[in-house]
Amino acid sequence: MTTPLPAGVTPRIFSGIQPSGGLTLGNYLGALKRFVEKQDEGIETVYCLVDMHAITVWQDPAKLRHATREAAAGFIAAGIDPARSILFNQSQVTAHVELGWIFNCVARMGWMGRMTQFKDKAGKNSENVSLGLFAYPALMAADILAYRATMVPVGEDQKQHLELCRDIAIKFNNDYKVDFFPVVEPIIEGAATRVMSLRDGTKKMSKSDPSDQSRINLTDDADTIAAKIRKAKTDPEPLPDSLEGLKDRPEARNLVNIYAALAGATPDAVVGEYAGAQFGKFKPALADLAVAKLSPITTEMTRLMADPAEIDRILGAGAERAETLARPVVEQVYDIVGMIRSRR
Ligand code: AMP
Ligand code: TRP
Repeated sequence: MTTPLPAGVTPRIFSGIQPSGGLTLGNYLGALKRFVEKQDEGIETVYCLVDMHAITVWQDPAKLRHATREAAAGFIAAGIDPARSILFNQSQVTAHVELGWIFNCVARMGWMGRMTQFKDKAGKNSENVSLGLFAYPALMAADILAYRATMVPVGEDQKQHLELCRDIAIKFNNDYKVDFFPVVEPIIEGAATRVMSLRDGTKKMSKSDPSDQSRINLTDDADTIAAKIRKAKTDPEPLPDSLEGLKDRPEARNLVNIYAALAGATPDAVVGEYAGAQFGKFKPALADLAVAKLSPITTEMTRLMADPAEIDRILGAGAERAETLARPVVEQVYDIVGMIRSRR
């Protein structure tokens, strides 16, 4: 079910990742790998390191700066070409926060209060988290709609935020009686749209998990990757001959999904190949595959990180290109909303 695009809107991809720590295998398989595929399909792609989102929870300034550069290096190492995709950090393009404020006035408190990511992050502490954390999804909608982007590749956990983005676009169009913002399509595809923790198959692999053993970082060396996979939690059963047999085995299912996503195969094909195999056999095969796929990225990231000024230059150049797309959109929004823009 695709809604027709408003006049003047062309297919465009936007996505973002928070530079709130190192990139994980979850970011890579759920998002970054897709970003590269979309770029290579020749669609216009805009990718953003969302530093303004990162500070909705406390970030040490020096670490934030480092993580932003490291994430940029990770994007480029994974195959994002800054000449073909627009790659930049959010705070350099003020259109995001400008539109974010307008969306704070479109979105309703009740909508925001239903966001499961907010509830998870705030926990019992909801009186003491930042106001920015509550408004987070409105800024995310602004990121996307400042480009009038039509497609957003993300991992499974972002689905609800994208539904909110659709609701904001629809409400804005209705309130102001315009057909201005497109209703975005989430792109949630591949074998690993939700990579789970290596220590607990019911929890998402996350850069903010206190246990480093729970995740594979894109900066991990080959030995560390192999050791983490070897120690990953599993059960004593061999692999079954169909996915049905993995229904109540979340850790095993996760490793099969990771294998499939890295190999570019389906989980079905992976259980077909390893039916009856013990983890003593499957884990070393997965470790070899993970090292083969990730090591070149890690090596290239390290090389790029040796020249932070060059990374900053790339982000600056990307921000300028982003600005030329987003500024006219935001100016049109100001006009629609009734703001006087008479400054020269
Ligand atoms: P974040 O690190 O929360 O900024 O997430 C950036 C992107 O990576 C989003 O598209 C997420 O959906 C995706 N992502 C993060 N963690 C995972 C995971 N464990 N599995 C799949 N995708 C993920
Ligand atoms: N909320 C996303 C996450 O944590 C990051 C993000 C911010 C984003 N703005 C976006 C993703 C716009 C897609 C599009 O994963």
